[in-house]
Amino acid sequence: MILPSILLLVAHTLEANIECGVRPLYDGRIRYTRIIGGQEAEVGEFPWQVSIQDNGHHFCGGSIISEWWILTVAHCFYSDEISPIELTVIVGTSDLTTSPMEMQVTSIIRHKNFQRLTMDNDIALLRLATPIKFNDLTVPICLPLHPAPSSWHECWVAGWGVTNADDKHSMKTDLMKVPMRITDWKECTKVFPKLTTNMLCAAYDNESYDACQGDSGGPLVCNMEPSNKWYQVGIISWGRSCGKKGSPGIYTLVSNYTLWIENIAQIEGKPLDTKYKKVSVKKKGRERSQSSKCSALGYPQSWLLSCLLPCMLLRALYSWE
Ligand SMILES: *[C@@H]1O[C@H](CO)[C@@H](O)[C@H](O)[C@H]1NC(C)=O
Ligand SMILES: *[C@@H]1O[C@H](CO)[C@@H](O)[C@H](O)[C@H]1NC(C)=O
Repeated sequence: MILPSILLLVAHTLEANIECGVRPLYDGRIRYTRIIGGQEAEVGEFPWQVSIQDNGHHFCGGSIISEWWILTVAHCFYSDEISPIELTVIVGTSDLTTSPMEMQVTSIIRHKNFQRLTMDNDIALLRLATPIKFNDLTVPICLPLHPAPSSWHECWVAGWGVTNADDKHSMKTDLMKVPMRITDWKECTKVFPKLTTNMLCAAYDNESYDACQGDSGGPLVCNMEPSNKWYQVGIISWGRSCGKKGSPGIYTLVSNYTLWIENIAQIEGKPLDTKYKKVSVKKKGRERSQSSKCSALGYPQSWLLSCLLPCMLLRALYSWE
């Protein structure tokens, strides 16, 4: 009985192409179970999620949109002192302490109309030095559909942020997930009068989640029934001072930027692909430490400020009461 299983596994691994927005490991029959807390992401559940690091320290999230490109927010790279050479992108893991795959960055492309005050056009792309090899743990997320469906079936954000605003050391090395619900844009302008049409609001699906957590730059992903494909609808951008129950988080509306993304990718000579080569998993065996030189943040708006502040080591996260 062993031989057929091996053959099946090999066949599975060598499958020629991988689509965007799929979760082969999570949705497949072979499934690791390692949920410890209710909100901890499973291995392969968010295979497009990346950790953007500066000298080994996580500071912002991002998502894989093609083998060459990481989508994230401009405010994480506001400081001109940030050089692509200092950055690494960790892909293919939900646990930052286990032998991650590190990618080098060759350029940081912020939207040229990013407005620091209004946070309008909070979007950026990182171009990788070498292409990501896709497998069950690294999968690109699909860019949003045109036109967007009137309602999504299920939405999630995930991140490595702090889970407890009062505990500076609560930064997780395991990816945490939170279910989200997209709120009506007009309704949201009542809370955020300066909301632009390039933004969307999303709030917790479940009131019982007491921590508002995630990472700036990380993706808000949604799927539709009956398809199980995942689309990136938003990028975690900003929010009101934490502690307001029911106050939504603000996301960059990705569908307004698909042309921008495609153009940049084209101009830079690494256009987005629709088909992806799939290869077997290869990992680098290197331990990473998650200690930080900066004292962690424990106050409102920390997830927004963290990337605006000169210290790149501050964690990009948000925390509500
Ligand atoms: C809300 O979260 C709690 C705790 O994780 C869970 O027990 C409950 O089933 C959730 N409710 C819904 C509607 O998802
Ligand atoms: C962004 O999307 C919104 C909602 O679909 C639309 O009203 C607005 O005109 C778009 N803006 C740009 C610049 O595409």
